[in-house]
Amino acid sequence: MTIKSVCVLGGAGFVGSSIVAKLDAAGYQVKVLTRRREAGKHLILLPNVQVVECDVMNNHALKLALTGTDAVINLIGILHENNRNTFEENHHQLPRRVAQLCENLDIYRFIHMSALQASTHAPSQYLISKAKGEIAIKEFNKKLDITIFRPSVIFGRNDRFLNLFANLVKYLPVIALAKPQARFQPIWVEDVASCFVNALENTTTYDKTYELGGPTVYTLRELVQKVMDILGKQRPIIGLNDRLSMMQAFTMELLPIKLMTRDNVKSMALDNVTHQSIAPELNVNPTPLEAVVPEYLTNATPRGAYDSFRSAAGRAINARR
Ligand SMILES: NC(=O)c1ccc[n+]([C@@H]2O[C@H](COP(=O)([O-])OP(=O)(O)OC[C@H]3O[C@@H](n4cnc5c(N)ncnc54)[C@H](OP(=O)(O)O)[C@@H]3O)[C@@H](O)[C@H]2O)c1
Repeated sequence: MTIKSVCVLGGAGFVGSSIVAKLDAAGYQVKVLTRRREAGKHLILLPNVQVVECDVMNNHALKLALTGTDAVINLIGILHENNRNTFEENHHQLPRRVAQLCENLDIYRFIHMSALQASTHAPSQYLISKAKGEIAIKEFNKKLDITIFRPSVIFGRNDRFLNLFANLVKYLPVIALAKPQARFQPIWVEDVASCFVNALENTTTYDKTYELGGPTVYTLRELVQKVMDILGKQRPIIGLNDRLSMMQAFTMELLPIKLMTRDNVKSMALDNVTHQSIAPELNVNPTPLEAVVPEYLTNATPRGAYDSFRSAAGRAINARR
């Protein structure tokens, strides 16, 4: 069946915005579900995109939103849970309900975002819940054509990983770094988006789970050093042992804005590294971090200069662009 319309859950987020822009450019009719239309306002001007407010936790509302679409992409996820927004609900129960609704509504194509190292035996609740979500949706693979992606950490202009370290480097005299030897294989958000869009109508990707990583593996210490080199600001890095890493995360959990939790530290016990390079059928040659990150961390673009002028004049900057 030819796919004409795609409903993207979590499409207004960091990764979702890149996927939605590529789907739009490829000519698909795209419906983005978000809790607040404001969160998707940067997508509204795209000609084939409709941003719709929907409480996806309400099954009736979700059913109405999915009705009539040819394919579903689920990107909903959280890095930190709280009493109202849990890993179990977002990463396990929600994907299961989406798959069930797809089956009921005869929507055959379902692409789901998981995470590298997701496993029911993983040391972190985030990774365990992602694994439970994968298992739950695979129950529907007799009727649905399912593809699952498991990326390593994703970088891009609005990422919350390298930008976080850039801010720490700018404002702190010393970096106390949890898990400095943790290993990552960062992948560019545009490459992740290409994998999703290239897979959409490619039947060889059905019933497959793909790991996604960039061309290079770095330790966390190397990544922070890279950020410092790019910014031209050198700070001493004090690597914390496991016990101190957990204590630092516990202290951070007490802050109103969650930067890191003990669950995040636990997930870093596993190497965030793929077992093989990106599968050829996805047709993506991953971009080196060095080719992209300096431009956005130093804002070295005409657009960045414009944002600086707006910021100096007290005007808002569209953070999601
Ligand atoms: N970024 C990474 O490095 C990385 C690495 C591996 C896997 N992933 C996975 O990739 C997916 C997208 O990540 P991202 O970095 O783009 O995160 P993001 O910018 O925070 O986007 C996640 C989206 O999930 C939606 N969401 C969160 N809680 C929700 C709730 N209770 N009800 C409904 N919607 C909710 C939000 O939608 P609205 O706010 O619009 O309602 C948000 O746009 C996630 O599943 C994440 O686990 C990300």
